Amino acid sequence: MLRRGLHWLSEQQQIFDFVRSNGLARRFAERFVAGETIETGAAVAEALSARGITVSLDLLGESVHEAGAAEVACGQYIAILGRMSQSSGVEVNVSIKLTQMGFDVDEELCCRNMVRILDRARQLGGFVRLDMEGSAHTQRTLDFFEHRLYPVYGDHVGVVIQSALRRSTKDVEHLIGLKARVRLCKGAYLEPPDVAFADKADVDRHYVELMERLLREGHYPGLATHDERIISHARQVVAREGIASERYEFQMLYGVRRDLQDQLKAAGHRMRVYVPFGTQWYPYLMRRLAERPANIAFIFGNVIREGLSGR
Ligand code: FDA
Repeated sequence: MLRRGLHWLSEQQQIFDFVRSNGLARRFAERFVAGETIETGAAVAEALSARGITVSLDLLGESVHEAGAAEVACGQYIAILGRMSQSSGVEVNVSIKLTQMGFDVDEELCCRNMVRILDRARQLGGFVRLDMEGSAHTQRTLDFFEHRLYPVYGDHVGVVIQSALRRSTKDVEHLIGLKARVRLCKGAYLEPPDVAFADKADVDRHYVELMERLLREGHYPGLATHDERIISHARQVVAREGIASERYEFQMLYGVRRDLQDQLKAAGHRMRVYVPFGTQWYPYLMRRLAERPANIAFIFGNVIREGLSGR
């Protein structure tokens, strides 16, 4: 019930308008979001890179319904790529939601925006990941990737597969055949049971199956999870089968399991942190709270503690 409520709240723009003006809510968001500007995002990227952890910067925003807003977001992404390339030690790598680039307004507009971003990323030797959104967008996103972007940009662009979706076994097989770069995650959206596994144990089991396949046959997969059990399983497969650490990377979200991020790095694995920033942080924050409602108490406790200590 609480999860459903948080997912519903993530879609309520009026509530965001109210929440954004509230200082306490902004303090909540700081735990998972690296501020509202390019500079705050870049500062976090620099700090992580100095610790040997690579990043993917994400300008928060999704479900854009006007061409003008998509063009503005495109310009901001181009500025982010430039900013990353000027930071010493920072790899140029961003994550983008197609709906932010106008996918639901006009696919040609979205394509023009993505071409501008990818031209710049390629020029800088960078990489652009297309985040995966709800299942209504899965086929369209995969088609757009396969037919419009991947043939031109190859290894500069990659997609995401969600183990929650029943279809993902087939999709992973297809993407392995294409030699495309895949990030594997569990999936952050509420989906109907005919499309997605309702039972979390099935989502986890499917993740392990897809992960093994990608580790053995995939092209530099990104294993995006904070699930310790799954991560140790990955480490066993890698050790047992002698899979070199340059052939895959672990990925986690900014603010989640920082201890585990450092442990993996120290053990010689590649570790990337997904760093979201920007003013549109509300739906993202609500999805993080829905994944782990205990975060509400955790963040609230921290904010109060910091408040009492006069931070
Ligand atoms: P699970 O939810 O089972 O959590 C395992 C453990 O991790 C928990 O017990 C807890 O300890 C910790 N944990 C997980 N989430 C936490 C949180 N929010 N706060 C604190 N602890 C937490 N989704 C999507 O649909 N499309 C996408 O493109 C992406 N992209 C993406 C990139 C990267 C780098 C990551 C890490 C994740 C995504 N996701 C995503 C989100 C993903 O689908 C999923 O919702 C979250 O990663 C949570 O799932 P876990 O695999 O961590 O497992």
